[in-house]
Amino acid sequence: MGAAPVIAAIPMAGLAAAPALSGGSGPSAGTGGDAHVAMGHASMVGDAVPAPGGPGDLDDLLTPPPALPHQPGRVRRYTLAALDRDIEIASGVTFPAWTYNGTVPGPVIRATEDDILEVEFTNAGSHPHTIHFHGIHPSNMDGVFEIVEPGEAFTYRFPARPYGMQLYHCHAAPLKKHIHKGLYGAFIIDPPMPRRPAREIVLVMNGYDTDGDGENNFYSVNGRAFYYAKYPIRVRRSETLRIYLANLTEFDLINSFHLHGEFFRYYRTGSTDQFDYTDTVMQCQGERGIIEIDWHNAGRFMFHAHQSEFTDLGWMGFFDVADD
Ligand code: CU
Ligand code: CU
Repeated sequence: MGAAPVIAAIPMAGLAAAPALSGGSGPSAGTGGDAHVAMGHASMVGDAVPAPGGPGDLDDLLTPPPALPHQPGRVRRYTLAALDRDIEIASGVTFPAWTYNGTVPGPVIRATEDDILEVEFTNAGSHPHTIHFHGIHPSNMDGVFEIVEPGEAFTYRFPARPYGMQLYHCHAAPLKKHIHKGLYGAFIIDPPMPRRPAREIVLVMNGYDTDGDGENNFYSVNGRAFYYAKYPIRVRRSETLRIYLANLTEFDLINSFHLHGEFFRYYRTGSTDQFDYTDTVMQCQGERGIIEIDWHNAGRFMFHAHQSEFTDLGWMGFFDVADD
């Protein structure tokens, strides 16, 4: 806890300090500034962590809707609206986001393979947008050619396939701006044969360029820097933890997930039974996968990007594994 005052200085300094701290976060990365050395991430835990919001704020983004049994032709309906919103991404740091339904990332969409996914999209924002889903679908449902102007609406309707961890994002031009501003989210398609029981969570990795220089100044999972350091995710040792992980970071080529003290199965895209057994995965922009952790030990275990500068700029958290 001795380093807390130094840590707290980042968000309080806000926009002014962020560029200096983010010098190493771009594709032409050098080493980080001195501030990185002072911010040992092991010291970032509990109430001293300068993350915005309260303990249950991100529950809807963390916990996906439940999986439903295979029932071909069933309609799964979602309503998404594009909204311009100022959101707090780190303590005292506001980002002028473009959102689906007011949050970054947008809501978790879930369907079972062979469901008919129906997404009613209304553009209540200030710019033209779309929703582009990953997966297999007709070209006129792809969210590329049918641009939805402000005040207009469009309904996407197609069979959900293939099963796996998919994602969605706006595909209006300029693409990197529309994605970076916050128009993206997780899209889970469950297999016809249900996955085995597990505690399930969603982690969407992202970044924020708060000064418009094309490099990220903050990183997070589920939208808020340091959030799961302030509010560790509680799990049970006896229960498999299944993480639906996606990378929607712009500007940086790759992001990563590293877990301390444990190994896990990693199903790349989650559309086959093949997995790696590892403790670190990297994902390019738009890449995603499914992690399954069977805990050997109870205790507090850190997870974070293995790019240390991302860690120091917000992409870190903890699992509190209860012994039961
Ligand atoms: Cu857009
Ligand atoms: Cu994409």
